[in-house]
Amino acid sequence: MSVAYKSIQWNRTKIIYDLLLFAAIGIYLFLFTYSAKLVSPDLEMRGLDIRAFGSAAFILLHVILSIGPLCRFDRRFLPLLYNRRHMGVTMFFLGLIHVIGFNLSDIPVLSNIPYKADGALYWYHDFGNVEPIVSLFAGNTHYGSLVRFPFETLGVIGLAILFLMAITSHDFWLANLTAPIWKALHMSVYVAYAALVGHVTLGAIQTNRHPFLTIAVGLGLVWITVIHLLAALQERRRDRAVAPPATATDHYVDIGSINEIPDTRAKIVTIAGERVAIFKYDGKIAAISNVCQHQNGPLGEGKVIDGCVTCPWHGYQYLPETGASPPPFIESVPTFNVQLRDDRIFVSTIPNPPGTETIPARIYPDADGAQSYE
Ligand code: FES
Repeated sequence: MSVAYKSIQWNRTKIIYDLLLFAAIGIYLFLFTYSAKLVSPDLEMRGLDIRAFGSAAFILLHVILSIGPLCRFDRRFLPLLYNRRHMGVTMFFLGLIHVIGFNLSDIPVLSNIPYKADGALYWYHDFGNVEPIVSLFAGNTHYGSLVRFPFETLGVIGLAILFLMAITSHDFWLANLTAPIWKALHMSVYVAYAALVGHVTLGAIQTNRHPFLTIAVGLGLVWITVIHLLAALQERRRDRAVAPPATATDHYVDIGSINEIPDTRAKIVTIAGERVAIFKYDGKIAAISNVCQHQNGPLGEGKVIDGCVTCPWHGYQYLPETGASPPPFIESVPTFNVQLRDDRIFVSTIPNPPGTETIPARIYPDADGAQSYE
């Protein structure tokens, strides 16, 4: 949570996930080059490096785009969401190495390790009498043709967007750009994805007769499209609005029985177009906006931990009675007044300003264990 700038927010869990990520990428790069050499021993190692890093970046992009929808289907994917931004930055560097290459001897502490990967820019555009970057844009000018369109340009567009996202991925930028602008900027990952699908597909068509790569890109596109559509359908079903108030003077709507909500958990409903999370905890019922101030995470899918509603995505916390983060943090979300009528929960249709204190409805257990309500 953002009260001060810290250059990197690593913790033990993130370090473990990062090490697993780097290990998986290392294994993939090794298997890619090793199996390609087995199949075609005459292949140039330099060209293989370019394909290995480019395909690793493209596969990682599919993983990143799959995490959000998968978390909607199964909470066990949430730890991946927690680590998604590190994946994004790693993906950008893989794409960058695909373009400009990488030489370990350029890094002082690693200069004894003889590892060098060539980049596409110098491998394909360094043999003429113009600068490689000029050759990249001037080598193919069939901008009016669909099939012969310069696929390199699409790759540059995708990488430029991923660069913008990587340098603004820290919470420092989220706090300074404000959540809506930051979110809009980071939604451009779908523009980058479209550009990179075009880059890989046209690259395969123009340079490689084998249809395997084109088919693989098509399957990836279908996968990303289908899981996003299914997740959107699930959200839409969940968003079914509750019935409006019974009378014009009653601003409270019946959202269901207290028995529907497990302890420390919430029910999410849409009231007057707003998603509201109604939590049951410590014998009380309180309602806050479902939208986390960090990255719009679904607060109602989190739980109450140590008296605070804890966002399932990255752990931002809010007090259920006030919607405010505990000090020293400054985030806050709107609250909603709540009443209990028998065992039914009624929530006001009028949101309180963010951070407004409310009085939670209390559930009193009788001596014989039955519940009474206030
Ligand atoms: S969206 Fe990141 S903590 Fe809620």
